[in-house]
Amino acid sequence: MDGRPFFVMTDPGCFDVSYRINPWMDPDAWTPDDAAAACAGSAKLRQALEVAGARVEVIGAVRGLPDLVFPANAAVVLNGKVLLARFRHPERQGEEAIFRSVFQRLKARGYVREIVDLSDGLFHEGAGDAIWDHDRGFFWGGYGPRSSRGALSVVRKTFGREVVPLQLATEAFYHLDTCFCPLAGGQLLYYPAAFTADALATIHERVPEHQRIEATSDEAAALCVNAVNLGSTVIMARAPDTLRQKLNSRGYELIEVDLAPFIRSGGAAYCMTLRLDRTSLPAASILAAE
Ligand code: ARG
Repeated sequence: MDGRPFFVMTDPGCFDVSYRINPWMDPDAWTPDDAAAACAGSAKLRQALEVAGARVEVIGAVRGLPDLVFPANAAVVLNGKVLLARFRHPERQGEEAIFRSVFQRLKARGYVREIVDLSDGLFHEGAGDAIWDHDRGFFWGGYGPRSSRGALSVVRKTFGREVVPLQLATEAFYHLDTCFCPLAGGQLLYYPAAFTADALATIHERVPEHQRIEATSDEAAALCVNAVNLGSTVIMARAPDTLRQKLNSRGYELIEVDLAPFIRSGGAAYCMTLRLDRTSLPAASILAAE
């Protein structure tokens, strides 16, 4: 690591929508033009991350695994430790072996310290359902449509950090990262209708009202909550003006990228990336916490 935020992305060369495991996906509507637009969109996202000061490593595409372009689902990563995902749907389970070897190679190069397997019988879809809140020092853990509730305690034990459970209420917002995005400085962008009443009560308990930024249904439908935040910069899919104004007025600068083909798979900026350099504590205390 060289001090720059370090992200993994996947070459979009084999991306398409050829099955349906969430309500955004319609294989019949997918065309070769969408594939070309996906390559352009992925390149723009990479460029936006690099302009914002990040380093991006791109892993290879694999034919037959179109959703490999969403590496956020591959693992939870903190302090150099990688907790490998287990996908709920058979359509994505072939990604597990690919991502395992990606992390093994990263380990050999010194970018990863330890690789941990999830216990049998549990599903967990990585950083899509375990979002590190740097300001608060804990994970928010989504569960329901994809990740098992029981997997959250594995996340807690693996990283020695609290995991605040949030049950997702809808099939459309099936990963926590589709409806929930903590921002640097403690603000939280989220879409309330995606959560159960209990989950909303938890959010309200943990995040005071002045730090909560509610997305409207239009903003959520544009998958803009699925954003990458680097300091005061927020990188996301094309945003309705309302959202741009809301975030600007809170001091954030928006970088928008046309990610339409990926939205047709139910994903956007955050889940097209996996951040590898997240840390919870200064190096000395990481060892003490183990
Ligand atoms: N088609 C993919 C799926 O349904 C999209 C995944 C998007 N990832 C995310 N973390 N939101 O699994």
